Amino acid sequence: MMKMKWDQFYKKPYHERLEMIASDRDLSDEERQRLFADNSDVSNNLIENFLTDYPLPEGVVTNLKVNGRSHLVPMVVEEPSVIAAASNGSKLLAAGDGIHAVVSDRLVGGQIIVKGAEVDQLKRFVNDNEATIFKIANDSHPRVLLYGRGAQKLGVRKLDETFASVDLAVDTGEAMGANMINTMLETVAAWLQQKLGVVITMAILSNYADQSIVAVSGIVPFDKLKNQFLSGEVVAQRIADASHVAQIDIYRAATHNKGIMNGIDAAAIAFGNDWRAIESAAQSFASRDGQYRGLSQWQVTPAGLRGKMTVPIPIGYVGGATKVLPLAKINQKIAGVYNVTEEMQIIAAVGLAQNLAALKALVTDGIQKGHMNLQLKSLAMANGATSEEVAAVVTALRKLDHPSSQAVKQILEQLRR
Ligand code: HMG
Repeated sequence: MMKMKWDQFYKKPYHERLEMIASDRDLSDEERQRLFADNSDVSNNLIENFLTDYPLPEGVVTNLKVNGRSHLVPMVVEEPSVIAAASNGSKLLAAGDGIHAVVSDRLVGGQIIVKGAEVDQLKRFVNDNEATIFKIANDSHPRVLLYGRGAQKLGVRKLDETFASVDLAVDTGEAMGANMINTMLETVAAWLQQKLGVVITMAILSNYADQSIVAVSGIVPFDKLKNQFLSGEVVAQRIADASHVAQIDIYRAATHNKGIMNGIDAAAIAFGNDWRAIESAAQSFASRDGQYRGLSQWQVTPAGLRGKMTVPIPIGYVGGATKVLPLAKINQKIAGVYNVTEEMQIIAAVGLAQNLAALKALVTDGIQKGHMNLQLKSLAMANGATSEEVAAVVTALRKLDHPSSQAVKQILEQLRR
């Protein structure tokens, strides 16, 4: 095969890789230094072709009350107003009784895709050999039974006339368990192939994590929702209407869920979890009945506005990046979460609080008022304001009807004169 310029790049020592990129992309000394300054051994060993640590801001959500306990929740996010909104929603829900969270299931599921097997026969075989298959699965990974209870459920689903799925669900304890279940599935797949002579297409965990489910709910008293113009009951009804629209319209449902994931992803990243797995699980779960819907629902009750959400949160409290990323452990401590169940509950609860704040803003002032107010700092910085100048620029921008890049440039010109 033809040799390409970047072949074997990953085998080069860090400094050589950096120099190659710097010279190929004509980076200035300052740019090269910037990349170099933020390199760490941990990251160099965590991912491939490592170049630099990419810093994202971390902040803390206040007043999140879950199952009677108050939590501070670290969130890693680049978007202004997300943390303010999550804190706002948390405070509103804390004015009721806080958020009630229950983890109903905590198994990691995976599948072995079998091609061309006679499905009833496969079902019978798997059923008759369940104990053997569990043993083979549990024996395949040295830590399965150290972490959790190991293989728990087994089944066969017909996918179409050609394909079937052998589904295995495993209790991986406090770990996310991706490596464990993949090893278990591959071992069982090889055994099935040998025993039955079937064709195995693949063996892999499923990100449709419908067995790692958290249910959260909470009530906001009406008087906490009122504003200058609208009673709390009216705001509550508008939020319930917004929630209804997210159940019937995919355009709105996607945005509604993006608001929820603002909180869930940011907290998951802070705890060192694989947020793509959570995204994938949550988004697929949102269309579990065939129609993509909002994950949360809000309704008016005599006690106030009641919100509820059922969402998969497939995470681990130990292992993987949670063990390696230095901030992950500190963040678990800040949040006061001591096991995977608590961490799942906190992450889902942040999603509900985040959603409440966004909906309240949308049906009252509109999103732009609060959001843009907090965006002004990044608008100022994006247009060249130094940290010393930001406050003065934001004050000047607040007086304008339409803050813009052009406006920042003019304000800076005046300030620097
Ligand atoms: P407000 O009503 O002006 O705030 O809200 P307040 O001054 O009354 O403060 C209420 C609480 O909010 C505070 O309580 C804080 O907890 C928090 P306190 O501590 O004062 O007792 N809070 C803040 N926390 C940290 N920093 C701040 C701050 N300000 C208030 N600077 C706010 C202002 C922006 C919070 C409100 O307008 C809001 O919640 N807006 C929603 C913003 C939002 O959702 N942003 C996400 C990006 S938009 C998006 O991506 C999703 C979306 O499309 C989803 C959807 O469509 O469903 C909207």
